[in-house]
Amino acid sequence: MSNSRRDFLKAGSAALVAGMLPVSLVKLAFAESAENFTFAYISDSHIQQIKGSKFVRNWDQGLRRAVAEANLLTPKPDFVVFGGDLAQLGSKPELDHGAEMLSALKYKTYMVMGEHDYYLDLGEYWSKLYGDHFYSFDHKGVHFVVLNSIITYDDWTYNRWESPERRMNEMAGLDNPNGSPFMVGKAQLDWLRKDLADVNSKTPVVVFSHSPIQKIYRGWNFWTEDAEDVQKLLKRFRKVNVIYGHVHQIQYNQIGNIAFNSVMSTAWPWPYPQSYALAESHLPILTVPMNRADPFDERDATGWQFMNMHTGRVDLSYNLYGNDNRTVAWNDKQKRPEDRAFQDEDARVAPQTHY
Ligand SMILES: [Fe+2]
Ligand SMILES: [Fe+2]
Repeated sequence: MSNSRRDFLKAGSAALVAGMLPVSLVKLAFAESAENFTFAYISDSHIQQIKGSKFVRNWDQGLRRAVAEANLLTPKPDFVVFGGDLAQLGSKPELDHGAEMLSALKYKTYMVMGEHDYYLDLGEYWSKLYGDHFYSFDHKGVHFVVLNSIITYDDWTYNRWESPERRMNEMAGLDNPNGSPFMVGKAQLDWLRKDLADVNSKTPVVVFSHSPIQKIYRGWNFWTEDAEDVQKLLKRFRKVNVIYGHVHQIQYNQIGNIAFNSVMSTAWPWPYPQSYALAESHLPILTVPMNRADPFDERDATGWQFMNMHTGRVDLSYNLYGNDNRTVAWNDKQKRPEDRAFQDEDARVAPQTHY
């Protein structure tokens, strides 16, 4: 554990956040009804069974560490969100083993569905453990929505594959032409329309999804087919954040009124998709590119995050394993998220050239 990490955990989130916030923002926070609060976010642990009670140790350790560190936060976060892909191939032993590790969390935990949890039995066992695939709740003046954004076309789901195992394997590949684009789907869009109908447009809205509710790179399913339909329903709100897992890397973006933030994986990092270099309109406006994953460092670019909710905006503090922590915060002048605190450029792990 580096010095900065130890200091950070000892000092806790309140001291860190207070040090970062300009006074005017704090005043603004008191003028609004929403209380400032924090929550923690752990995602994409991909717990994978090898055989019997043997699991991939490195993935286990990534999740265990996130749980242990989240439990050390002072002040305590109000809740924890798990952002999906708890399991690797959606099996009961994997979901059970992951659930057992998550049960060590000392906080209320909200669960998001990932495709690796879903495509073996279409979420049946996950539901036994955690209940609804999509739902909403209110907390301290903020409306939170949890979506299952990883469903796909019925034909692909029900007619294409000779077995559930094959279906799971096809969806588990990153760069697989046999896959199918993720979506939220009509039933959930109808539910969301109704859910948001009674919410005042001044109320901050935070959406938790697994796939990004934007179109980043279709080839890798960093993609939601009906993203625009969801964005349309969110349009009338003044402050909206979408927080998503699945991409295993730090991304942020601003589309109209909606700020997008990804969270990291506790298991492994994905590289940036090639589209980052190609289509500016699809890109998060990155102020600081992420370090490339170092293949000789098994923990590089993985970790977990805690979030500070203030004045209806979400700032993310990324707790990077084996690197300096990083903060992506709302820039009120630019009206978009940007990197606020990150590793010194001169002290970086050498980047890989990947395209
Ligand atoms: Fe994942
Ligand atoms: Fe995923």
